[in-house]
Amino acid sequence: MKILGVETSCDETAAAVVEDGRKLLSNVIASQAAIHARYGGVVPEIASRQHLEAILPVIQAALAEAGCGWRDLDAVAVTKGPGLVGALLVGVNVVKALAYARDLPLIGVNHLEAHLYANWIDEDGSGEPPPPFPLLGLIVSGGHSDMVLMEEHGQIRLLGRTLDDAAGEAFDKVARLLGLGFPGGPAIEAAAERATESEAKPPKLPRAWLGKSDDFSFSGLKTAVLHVVRGERGPPPAIEQTAAAFQEAVVDVLAGKTARAARRQDVRGVLLAGGVAANGPLRRALADRSPAPVFVPSPLLCTDNAAMVAACACYRYEAGRAGWDLDVSPNLPVA
Ligand code: KG4
Ligand code: ZN
Repeated sequence: MKILGVETSCDETAAAVVEDGRKLLSNVIASQAAIHARYGGVVPEIASRQHLEAILPVIQAALAEAGCGWRDLDAVAVTKGPGLVGALLVGVNVVKALAYARDLPLIGVNHLEAHLYANWIDEDGSGEPPPPFPLLGLIVSGGHSDMVLMEEHGQIRLLGRTLDDAAGEAFDKVARLLGLGFPGGPAIEAAAERATESEAKPPKLPRAWLGKSDDFSFSGLKTAVLHVVRGERGPPPAIEQTAAAFQEAVVDVLAGKTARAARRQDVRGVLLAGGVAANGPLRRALADRSPAPVFVPSPLLCTDNAAMVAACACYRYEAGRAGWDLDVSPNLPVA
């Protein structure tokens, strides 16, 4: 089964064709990051307008790259939420019109669930088996930090979530405090790498463990960085040292709490997903500490893309089938 997926929930206009939920035939991503970087974050109205301009060429490129015509497709899928309402509306309405014109089944996909399905894509064609259930999932993106238990396709239970900032949001805000630009995650990771060459002492930063709960909290850590940057804890250390200490604190909590939940839930694997899953130290820390095998998509499939949308649609075909009244759902939860 070949499915065209389309993603427009935030600042990436993306389209991809995936066969049988695993084989990646094409993956086209038009990022608006450079445009939003000027404003230090995603400006919703600009995002919607950019999606409008990019969406048809991006879809055409995805079909061409896959060597596919409309008649080769079995369905079209689109992210219906969560995300920016105006951005989602562009994707949903364009894909709805295409499905109608080409007489193809229309599938509405949950963006957070789709992030997990990046782990089903066999990107290098090595034919590795898909992850076995039950699975623990950690979805860490710009808007969400959710810990979930996945018992089967479509059977997802929320175990914990952030009580304040999402992990990616904390990376973005701290990067701004440190003058490192947008998006903050890759900028902090790069700065932290440079820190290892310095002799200076890194600042001590707090970790919010929140007892036995699977919830997260990152706003206290962010405030602690602000105090360090303002010199309220003594002369401010080098930016690289602060970036490294911040990244270490986030990684410690994410990997530590995920490993603990994996042990408690006795899962057969752990799925890392979402933009923050591209972070090298997080990938390594989780692999070191998890009691079960860890699955991580390639960095390109961690951040927003449409291959994950097409893959998810294949496994959630019946549940996702939508009528012409398909609408966006900006606050859609993962479960
Ligand atoms: O999943 P995603 O592309 O979009 C949302 O659904 O939000 O996640 C974007 C987030 C941003 O906050 C970005 O700073 C973060 O993922 N991110 C990273 C890295 N690459 C992207 N965070 C840490 N390390 C990275 N290498
Ligand atoms: Zn995302």
